[in-house]
Amino acid sequence: MDINAESKVGQVAAHYPMATRVFARHGIDFCCGGGKALREVCEKRDLSTTQILEEIDQVLSSDPGETETWNEAPVVDLVRHIIESYHQPLREELPRLESMVRKVVRVHRDRNPERLDALLKTFLRLEAELQEHMTEEEDVLFPEIILHGEASSPTEPFVDDHRVVGEALAELRRLTDDYVVPEGACNTWRALWFGLAELEQSLHQHIHLENNILFARVNAA
Ligand SMILES: [Fe+2]
Ligand SMILES: [Fe+2]
Repeated sequence: MDINAESKVGQVAAHYPMATRVFARHGIDFCCGGGKALREVCEKRDLSTTQILEEIDQVLSSDPGETETWNEAPVVDLVRHIIESYHQPLREELPRLESMVRKVVRVHRDRNPERLDALLKTFLRLEAELQEHMTEEEDVLFPEIILHGEASSPTEPFVDDHRVVGEALAELRRLTDDYVVPEGACNTWRALWFGLAELEQSLHQHIHLENNILFARVNAA
């Protein structure tokens, strides 16, 4: 496929995995907002569409080696990849981040009580949502896909959950000023901002693989 201003972000990400580096660089949501045209998401984030297209062109030409997509591989392999590379690491990472958020809020709450309280609340909501959601994918949806190559349960409720996750991530990005470390922040605070930014990147990839590739494939089967 050719990439232009009207290309759907999720489609670009599905066909050109390297392009997701540019999306991540600019905080462009290519998983839940994957159905939107590039032009539309750029306008929303006050970015120049031409510049983003140029950057995509650059990453694609600079590293032609990494072009593997999950469009062709057996869906069973994709499911296994999602569990091993995303679900299992998340089960370790979420409690680690939770203790860091609690620590930063406990020690530095005075600096901005309203914002830090909101950060803790949003993080806990996201964590609970993800734990429940992953369990449901692994207990209900993924076994159907592994057994039959298609899903007999509808995938919409899972896509709805992803939207909730995407909203919580956007809220965290807002509450952390786009993950810019506040002046005089301690090491835990720095590590927390870094960890949350990584969490966002990884979840965007994870949800993209499910929404735009896995679900699209099993629903077309
Ligand atoms: Fe998942
Ligand atoms: Fe999911």
